[in-house]
Amino acid sequence: MRWSIILISVIIGVGSIFYTTNLATELKAREQGLIKLYADALEYAVNNNADENLSFNWQIIENNNSIPVIVTDGYNEPINHKNIDFREGADEEEQARVLKKELALMKATYDPIPITLLNTDGSIYDVNFIYYRNSYLLTSLEYYPYVQLSVILIFGLLAFLAFNHSKIAEQNRVWVGLAKETAHQLGTPLSSLMAWVEYLKNSPMADENKEVIEELGKDIYKLEMITARFSNIGSIPVIKDENVIEAIEETVNYLRPRISRKVEMQVHSDTRELTAKMNKPLFDWVIENICKNAVDAMKGVGKIDIYIIKESEQFVIVDVTDNGKGIAKNKLKQVFQPGYTTKTRGWGLGLTLVKRIIENYHNGRIFVKSSDPGVATTFRIILRG
Ligand SMILES: Nc1ncnc2c1ncn2[C@@H]1O[C@H](COP(=O)(O)OP(=O)(O)OP(=O)(O)O)[C@@H](O)[C@H]1O
Ligand SMILES: [Mg+2]
Repeated sequence: MRWSIILISVIIGVGSIFYTTNLATELKAREQGLIKLYADALEYAVNNNADENLSFNWQIIENNNSIPVIVTDGYNEPINHKNIDFREGADEEEQARVLKKELALMKATYDPIPITLLNTDGSIYDVNFIYYRNSYLLTSLEYYPYVQLSVILIFGLLAFLAFNHSKIAEQNRVWVGLAKETAHQLGTPLSSLMAWVEYLKNSPMADENKEVIEELGKDIYKLEMITARFSNIGSIPVIKDENVIEAIEETVNYLRPRISRKVEMQVHSDTRELTAKMNKPLFDWVIENICKNAVDAMKGVGKIDIYIIKESEQFVIVDVTDNGKGIAKNKLKQVFQPGYTTKTRGWGLGLTLVKRIIENYHNGRIFVKSSDPGVATTFRIILRG
């Protein structure tokens, strides 16, 4: 759709420019013909007796009411002119000035046409010159393609921007609607689940199932967090200083018992105190998504290392490295696009959300720093310190 708008503007643009250029060329040829005729008629009229019937010649001369013409004598002084525009009320002096300017312009445009004045015996008496340039119509027609081109370019650009904008706005509405609806729908079974856990805690089997009930409680808490995330989408999340290391460790500790035991997860950092600007529930989601992808890339066995580095006063870097199957070089950007997935049961939304959360809400950056298939893949997040 976007490209078809551009393509259509280009076709219309090229087509109409071609057409007007053609038109201008044709008109130019016609004006040249006319001016030749004009010169011939003038030459004939001045060289022949007044008693001859010259009305046809004068008609030709009179008929030229579009091409600006100046007739000069042998010394290049204007003696006659036609279709030259003077300012209303211009005095002789001003007219002479305008004529001089016009003459210079005409000299630069076309070679003059000589008119030979003859004595009655046929000998040459004087040579006059007809200077001329394009009619106003032709001049405008010659500029017209440029005007057209700019108008089309501006139109194309505006259409492109408008289309892009409305598409993004539409996508955003779908996202937000979907997220809010999901949160809303999850609310009811969640409160019922909470009630069930409370019931279990107080039931006779509470003691022997203590561990199970505890885990259930944690999962429900997690579900509540997820619901909160979803209902938060579309509203502006609160961003504040948080300890990045603690936030990431919390998420990792939550994930560890929920993924394959053969996948090792480790958080590395030089200090314990490192703050960055974040919305914790949303940032948790980011780490979770990236780690889940890493696990998926490993076929159950492997290692995930998270390095947290204070890069400068301004930035904190979080590198998540796994030793899974890796990402092909030409897919490094594509993995963030909605719908891109290589999994049979994937939605291709995980990284899209991650990018949105980091870039739109945290004013940070995320990208695949490197990927060496089968050896290591690193996703880098840059947060504001
Ligand atoms: N660490 C990784 N190693 C190898 N490939 C990865 C890694 N992370 C992401 N990918 C590739 O990027 C694709 C897109 O990831 P994304 O999280 O957006 O979607 P998904 O995991 O396929 O589906 P879901 O919406 O359920 O998350 C994955 O299908 C996978 O091919
Ligand atoms: Mg995913």
